[in-house]
Amino acid sequence: AELDPAARPLTGRKVVITAGPTFEAIDPVRGLTNRSSGKQGYAIAEVLADLGADVTLVSGPVFLDAPNGVRRINVEAAAEMKAAVEAEMAAHKIDVAIMSAAVADWRVDNVATGKIKKAPGGAPALHLIENPDILAAVSKSGPVRPKLVIGFAAETADLEANALAKLSRKGCDWIVGNDVSQDVFGSDANAVTLFTRNGNESWERQSKRDIARHLAQHIVDHFKADPQ
Ligand code: CTP
Ligand code: CA
Repeated sequence: AELDPAARPLTGRKVVITAGPTFEAIDPVRGLTNRSSGKQGYAIAEVLADLGADVTLVSGPVFLDAPNGVRRINVEAAAEMKAAVEAEMAAHKIDVAIMSAAVADWRVDNVATGKIKKAPGGAPALHLIENPDILAAVSKSGPVRPKLVIGFAAETADLEANALAKLSRKGCDWIVGNDVSQDVFGSDANAVTLFTRNGNESWERQSKRDIARHLAQHIVDHFKADPQ
């Protein structure tokens, strides 16, 4: 079935999307971050809102405007992103969670309260600790678990094996896998495979907007088949 935006097929559905990188402070002027333009997550937010969904975008620092009709919550660190997502789940029954953010896997344990100065003794040692996995937490959130939880997997090798491992390890429903060995970051195009528990489907390299439309189509079909 073709998507019919005029029919607003996602009216009444609440969606939370994470997008962009996270930024983990080292000191007041420095930090660790990930490469992510946020374009794919923002495109998904825009398309779902156009289809009638009530969309909240929990966004790390990016150079993009919030799409029309989308509520944006700006965050920096992974811990803040997780808290914002959990607050949304506590406040409303969420139908769909889409975790497209490039969350920093580690943060600095010993964040300095003042600017670290260069010193003759050499470079400072950073002690890293692992950040919480937001996608896994949302997937395992029991009574408040969204009906459909979608993650992303950016891989430079073994896309299928890694994506399927993430699907089962994190407990989400779908994984959008993308091969980042090609030109993806900051680009307007992307080539992805959708992994579900009922098999996978590859989409040829296309604009991030068209990928968002494809994903939206699958979401609409999912709720049509099972109007929970
Ligand atoms: N993710 C998340 N919170 C994290 C790390 C990842 O929510 N702390 C989400 C991402 O938004 C994405 C999915 O998990 O939807 C997969 O992210 P990815 O970085 O590919 O997976 P990791 O489990 O972090 O594994 P690795 O980086 O080692 O490949
Ligand atoms: Ca990671």
